[in-house]
Amino acid sequence: MSSEKQATWGGRFSEGPDRLMQLFSESVSFDAQLAPYDIECSKAHASMLSHVGVITVEERDAIHGALEEVLDDIKAGRFKWDIALEDVHMNIEQALAEKTPASAKLHTARSRNDQVATDMRLFFKDACQSLIVDGIWKVQQVLVELAEQSKSFSIPGYTHLQRAQPVSIAHHLLAYVEMFARDEKRLLQVWESANICPLGSGAIAGTTLPIDREFVARELGFVDAEDRPRVTQNSMDAVSDRDVFIDFASACAVCGAHISRLSEDFILWNSSEFGFVALPDSFTTGSSLMPQKKNPDSFELLRGKAARLQGNLQTLLTLVKGLPLTYNRDLQEDKPPVFDSFDQLASSLDVLAGTLAGASFNKDACAKAVSDPVLLATDLADYLVCKGVAFRDAHHVVGELVALAEDKNVPLDKLEDFDVSKVHDALASDWRDVFRLETAFKSREKVGMPGPIQIEQQIKRWRDTLKA
Ligand code: ARG
Repeated sequence: MSSEKQATWGGRFSEGPDRLMQLFSESVSFDAQLAPYDIECSKAHASMLSHVGVITVEERDAIHGALEEVLDDIKAGRFKWDIALEDVHMNIEQALAEKTPASAKLHTARSRNDQVATDMRLFFKDACQSLIVDGIWKVQQVLVELAEQSKSFSIPGYTHLQRAQPVSIAHHLLAYVEMFARDEKRLLQVWESANICPLGSGAIAGTTLPIDREFVARELGFVDAEDRPRVTQNSMDAVSDRDVFIDFASACAVCGAHISRLSEDFILWNSSEFGFVALPDSFTTGSSLMPQKKNPDSFELLRGKAARLQGNLQTLLTLVKGLPLTYNRDLQEDKPPVFDSFDQLASSLDVLAGTLAGASFNKDACAKAVSDPVLLATDLADYLVCKGVAFRDAHHVVGELVALAEDKNVPLDKLEDFDVSKVHDALASDWRDVFRLETAFKSREKVGMPGPIQIEQQIKRWRDTLKA
């Protein structure tokens, strides 16, 4: 980047900024990616200025033509970004000045403060949509297909990382599909909050010129469901509000936390101790020293990225907490965490979908783990309840049986009928039927439970939802 050019605000200054200050204060190295939005905003603004008679139609057309040329140059990689011009806005403005004298009128009735707020809202709308469509939906689709493939496989479900009750792998995977659906809702909410136009707020207190804010809002697609333009209602709030940045980073951080939990499950399942799942070579790596290793690096990195997403949220909250109204230059630091959250979450979702698509479950290892009869200790308590025993007493009775089995060093279902009936006389000769896994699943057919009919229905529901 060269630095011969002067910033547009140079009028009152007798000397330019120190090189060190230029390097320190520039943002074009990261906000250049806002260029398409900045140009879209400028086109809408120029259209509005001509609509209200502040510039002529010819001037508008000259500005539009120059903006399109600049966009072409940027897309083709020909554009010379210059840190002396600080940010994306001034770089584009300077390039326009070289193309048409009409460009000197473009900044009429606007400030970089309302400009950057508008650019970012356009960015957020696109970012939310792409995270949902290209990221979340793809991951959900892979999870649903994996659930379908493995629906006859059962594993122990865990609480406190101790074997708790049997579940199907499908039920476990579909839990994450639910989480990602809530992530989608959060991102849609961010989209909704971003869908309001700050342009026309000026630097802080609007403008004396006869602008038409609704016109610009409409041009830029800031409209409600009934196609009514949506504009911000307080200029001071509009130029200093960073709530939507925080909401976006928060939605990304929560989604990251879900990805991280899923990753942790797969890392455990992939260990030799569990052995439930094999991961594809294409998303694992080896050790430089230990030849036998095949490490679940994609999942470990996904878990690590979640920390970064949480850090970005924290950065934004700290950034705004002590700022007086309105714009302060600190706010320029609002963009790197947001762009980073977007990039990292987008690639995390891609990598997650890729890794999951190549995962395969080991039926025998799963079957072995789930055959542990203590997993159905609660079902035995329920059996006693059906025989009229109060649940608290039933719980106690089964606890005694578990202790007895431990004492005798036999699996729970291998205790002698004689010993069992001594613990409670409601334990009749059919007490062992409880330990049939199939029965256990078939008895769980209420909404939200892991019964096979339920799982079929949930897979179908998600397939239909994701197809729609
Ligand atoms: N690059 C600046 C930012 O992102 C644009 C706004 C500059 N406004 C100002 N008053 N210096 O925050």
